[in-house]
Amino acid sequence: MVKVSRIDIYEKLDKVIIPGANVSLVKYKGIRGLEIDEDGNVDIKVEVPKQAENNLKELEESVVKAIKSVENVKEVKVNISVNEKPYGTVEFKNLIPNVKFPILIGSGKGGVGKSTVSSNLAIAMAKLGHKVGLLDADFYGPSIAMMFGIKEEPVVNEKEKLVPFEKFGVKVMSLGFLLEEDTPVIWRGPLLMKALTQFLEDVEWGELDYLLIDLPPGTGDIQLSLAQNVKVKGAIAVTTPQDVALLDVKKAVTMFEKLNIPVMGVIENMSYFICHNCGTKHFIFSGNEMDTGDKLGLPVLGRIPIDSAIREGGDKGLPIVVGYPESPVTKEFLETAKIIAEKSGL
Ligand SMILES: Nc1ncnc2c1ncn2[C@@H]1O[C@H](COP(=O)(O)OP(=O)(O)OP(=O)(O)O)[C@@H](O)[C@H]1O
Ligand SMILES: [Mg+2]
Repeated sequence: MVKVSRIDIYEKLDKVIIPGANVSLVKYKGIRGLEIDEDGNVDIKVEVPKQAENNLKELEESVVKAIKSVENVKEVKVNISVNEKPYGTVEFKNLIPNVKFPILIGSGKGGVGKSTVSSNLAIAMAKLGHKVGLLDADFYGPSIAMMFGIKEEPVVNEKEKLVPFEKFGVKVMSLGFLLEEDTPVIWRGPLLMKALTQFLEDVEWGELDYLLIDLPPGTGDIQLSLAQNVKVKGAIAVTTPQDVALLDVKKAVTMFEKLNIPVMGVIENMSYFICHNCGTKHFIFSGNEMDTGDKLGLPVLGRIPIDSAIREGGDKGLPIVVGYPESPVTKEFLETAKIIAEKSGL
């Protein structure tokens, strides 16, 4: 009787990398049975993830070679099965299957006008005839409810789902609706994420063409969690034409790309000021028209001027696209909405 060390076999198999999955057989916990008989013949059952399914021969050869290099081993028999689940990918759920084109609206820096742009853009897209929803995913500082002038709490329907408000042609839902005005938002980390998925599942959006999702500033867990729970089709970055804001928005763009979310382009907010007397454009932040798109390597989807009517509209719950439907700002939002709709291909 010969002695074959199981530990030695495991050690050797720890060096066998599963093709396509970049993980060793042992770390993947792919060894499902290991029998060694008295003569030193080894019979091994191996399970590999989906990525390896086209390279099973190569894997088998590596396994045989690795085991044969252990002292006293004679013949090696390998039995490989493939697990349909790929290794390393996070399980993806689609919690809002009835939305054709969910779009994330993000920025690196806070206060650049994400919520203002999301609100007016959603209304502009609805004006073009699309079915549009707007989700305020900014758990820390929800502001969409205020911008839409919605004060009531949402109702729950017979299916125990939250019914979004319909205002200015847009279906609106916000965590802000669920919080008392001065509730400190103490949800953090995992609890926050749990609340988000629950929230996504519990809203009765119905059939929508577009759902604009207003993100909190930065590149945190909410973005990640959304990307894993919603089939996001595109992202839009909002920035002001300042170098500091551009630097931050770049981080946001990089994050979208890492999450495999196609970035549709950038909206430059507070881009310029139109003089009420002479009608000339003044580029307040940048001095002259900034090549934001070039700097980010992205198309510019729109340039929204700075206008006190935008802020006033936001504060009193009447977005400028509704309050001043003929203004140059509204025209700019409608133009931007058209470009986005064209890009989405719906
Ligand atoms: N183009 C604009 N002209 C004038 N005021 C604007 C414009 N865009 C945004 N504002 C004002 O700037 C302030 C910040 O805008 P908003 O809340 O939309 O930014 P945000 O990026 O969503 O901020 P946060 O990071 O806090 O979520 C608001 O008072 C808003 O009314
Ligand atoms: Mg905001």
